[in-house]
Amino acid sequence: MIIIQFQEMEDVTCVKTQVIRSDRKGNPVYLFLVDGMLIDTGQQSLESEIISFYKEHPEKIKLAALTHSHEDHSGTAAWLQEKLEIPIYVHPSGIQVCQKRSPYPKYRQVTWGIRKEFNPLPLENKIKSLNTEWEVIYTPGHADDHVAFYHEQTGRMFTGDLFVSPKTKVIMDTESIPMTMDSIRKLLTYDFKSIYCSHAGYFENGKRKLKQKLEHLERLYSEVEILYQEGYSIDEINKSLFPKVYPIVDFSNGEWDSRHIVSSIISEINKESFL
Ligand SMILES: [Fe+2]
Repeated sequence: MIIIQFQEMEDVTCVKTQVIRSDRKGNPVYLFLVDGMLIDTGQQSLESEIISFYKEHPEKIKLAALTHSHEDHSGTAAWLQEKLEIPIYVHPSGIQVCQKRSPYPKYRQVTWGIRKEFNPLPLENKIKSLNTEWEVIYTPGHADDHVAFYHEQTGRMFTGDLFVSPKTKVIMDTESIPMTMDSIRKLLTYDFKSIYCSHAGYFENGKRKLKQKLEHLERLYSEVEILYQEGYSIDEINKSLFPKVYPIVDFSNGEWDSRHIVSSIISEINKESFL
């Protein structure tokens, strides 16, 4: 079953998409439309549902800005570029990957669909929607082309995949927990209250949520550090802090694993002790 739901929050149309199968619920994916600007474009496998939404009010969509290039955020960008002829923006380090057709493993193609190639423009420090100027805040960690979008006057913050859930249990091998922590710290220096998360949606108390997430990651960091200094290996630390092995680990052939949380923290510890 495919779920597509709409909610208006602070002049933002929040579009929630989700696939529910008999054996498991897929992760929700959000796209947002604010002041003529689409933030993220969902997954290609739900293209027909998402395009029906675009076709209802094509005149309302003047540009699209991606929080990062992952396929669940860029899935319908090629359609938007081709059919609505609107510009699509992504952080400069995401441009090349967007120009390739589905450059990601098979299990992700099955989950999110075959994302078609498109030609994005590079995001700069600011981006303008119809009547609003947004700050583009570089927030790597989840992906090296990850950004957040912020509007100071209204305090709206679009956080992409920086929050997602309060307690991180598995990450991809390309992610870095210390970098994510730095990115959250950076966002917390801004004046905002609510957040729009690409997988968990709108939170009125979003800044508090992000703070709690940072506190959780800081605790985790210290636990890893203590065990590492006591001489335990990455695998031993992983087993002790994350005893549960989630199905995604096998399903993704190890691209997702709690082990990457531990190893990214340990490489930061080693880097710090080297300096
Ligand atoms: Fe992502």
